[in-house]
Amino acid sequence: MSVTQPTTENLKFNFKNKTAIVTGGAQGIGFQITLSFLQSGGSVSIWDYSADALENAKKELSSFSNQVHFAQVDVTQKESCEAAAASLPWPVDILVNNAGITRDKSFGKMSFEDWNAVINTNLTGLFNTTKILSEKFNATSKSKRIVNISSVVGLYGNFGQTNYAAAKAGVIGMTKTLAKELGRKGFTVNAIAPGFISTAMTEKMPKEALDQMAAKVPVARLGSTEDIANAVLFLSSEQASYINGTVLSVDGGVVI
Ligand SMILES: NC(=O)c1ccc[n+]([C@@H]2O[C@H](COP(=O)([O-])OP(=O)(O)OC[C@H]3O[C@@H](n4cnc5c(N)ncnc54)[C@H](O)[C@@H]3O)[C@@H](O)[C@H]2O)c1
Repeated sequence: MSVTQPTTENLKFNFKNKTAIVTGGAQGIGFQITLSFLQSGGSVSIWDYSADALENAKKELSSFSNQVHFAQVDVTQKESCEAAAASLPWPVDILVNNAGITRDKSFGKMSFEDWNAVINTNLTGLFNTTKILSEKFNATSKSKRIVNISSVVGLYGNFGQTNYAAAKAGVIGMTKTLAKELGRKGFTVNAIAPGFISTAMTEKMPKEALDQMAAKVPVARLGSTEDIANAVLFLSSEQASYINGTVLSVDGGVVI
């Protein structure tokens, strides 16, 4: 039997006939995840609460108009998720829970509102979308995928982020539990823990501060949104069918 040499072509992911939902998919990391799925032949429903970000995404993704669906959704609101789920044009194969916010303050200064806003979006939001969408998955598929975006902060904590670290650690607990409960139903459920990722927000930071952040990373650079999208596509692929309940750090080694 001859062995086929790998080519660049057959190493790429193929999501033809697959459909994904990406929450917070209109900008930042979520937008890159969306774009990577679309470029790999998949269809994506972007769930985002920002009308402006959705409008920009619509313009930027105009060449993929047959593959992309936009829904203005607030993941903290059960009714908003239910309405968006009812409007979906396709059954779901992949759910990427990416929407997230920060309200950073030291514990002494953190208000109840700061706590509630972050827990509601970054943890309860995942419960809402996953609970409501679990019924919308392609019933016949044996490769249903849920990928949750946590953070290295959920693994080791961070000054000024009591709310965010608690929510992101909660995401890890939820991921492992769902991996146990839903495995028999044809799902894999995994989390990604990004480190310092370069986004529109970090681009506005002074170069000195960015250099200091990069210096803490063993590979001596910030991560890119593509680094996270590559990991999401891998965990969503057929090739990752035996990976379940794991937390994949995509952080250049910063948690070591
Ligand atoms: N950027 C980083 O360095 C980094 C590091 C670790 C983890 N993360 C995580 O990655 C994810 C994406 O981060 P990002 O940097 O791209 O952020 P971002 O602010 O650029 O994008 C977040 C998106 O989520 C949307 N969103 C926020 N609240 C929502 C809600 N209630 N309902 C629906 N949509 C909502 C926003 O409109 C936005 O489009 C987040 O979960 C974040 O915690 C980011």
